[in-house]
Amino acid sequence: MTRGSVETSLAELASRIRQRADGQAGRFVLGIAGPPGAGKSTLARGVRDELNLAAGTAIAEVAPMDGFHLTNAQLRALGELARKGEPDTFDAAGYVDRLRELRETPLGQPVPWPTYDREIHEPVPGGVIFDRQRIIVTEGNYLLLDDHGAPGWSAVRPLLDATWYLDVPRPVIEQRLVRRHIRGGRSPEAARTKVAESDLLNARLVEGTRPSADLVLRKFGRAYRIV
Ligand SMILES: Nc1ncnc2c1ncn2[C@@H]1O[C@H](COP(=O)(O)OP(=O)(O)O)[C@@H](O)[C@H]1O
Ligand SMILES: [Mg+2]
Repeated sequence: MTRGSVETSLAELASRIRQRADGQAGRFVLGIAGPPGAGKSTLARGVRDELNLAAGTAIAEVAPMDGFHLTNAQLRALGELARKGEPDTFDAAGYVDRLRELRETPLGQPVPWPTYDREIHEPVPGGVIFDRQRIIVTEGNYLLLDDHGAPGWSAVRPLLDATWYLDVPRPVIEQRLVRRHIRGGRSPEAARTKVAESDLLNARLVEGTRPSADLVLRKFGRAYRIV
């Protein structure tokens, strides 16, 4: 183990969140930030599944920031389709409002949440419906951004009860993102261009938010290291 880092399992991480959520009235919101391709969506689903498995019932669900991508039609109208994925190509205010609504709505009353479809490359309104789940795992690139990064995002942080940053070496995310773009229909060359000219710039912006997370995690085999 690296000096100063502590190894932990997904089950232990989930159990910490459960304890904190149990000590709080109303919904508990965990935010997972990190650069594109870090594995945030994978980690968020893993935490949700651990929480639900341990509870024996659905107490947790994922609320992806990606659901608040502007539609391709909106981006085309703005002349910004090529910049898709940058902080101002999302509806940050819509994300903040829905997060607040989720916190304020009593359990059992439905709150629809948009997801993002990586096959059609569009948000899906009401892709998930929150109901009785009292632990929300929200994840995305820009959760910890301040308003110097792009206006609107700084309103997210006060709505999060815990924040994790998922840290991954640059070369790893680069390789994953190229593969993801090819899976999503781009040619290898177009995929590499998108990564170099867009994703890695976004990654740099996100990396600057790492110090403001409560916990910085790195995947290590099947476990995580708290660094
Ligand atoms: N711990 C991991 N080890 C190896 N590959 C991973 C890991 N976590 C995620 N991936 C892969 O990396 C890619 C990006 O993961 P994803 O969870 O979608 O990242 P993010 O949501 O941060 O963009 C996916 O193809 C996923 O299967
Ligand atoms: Mg994701």
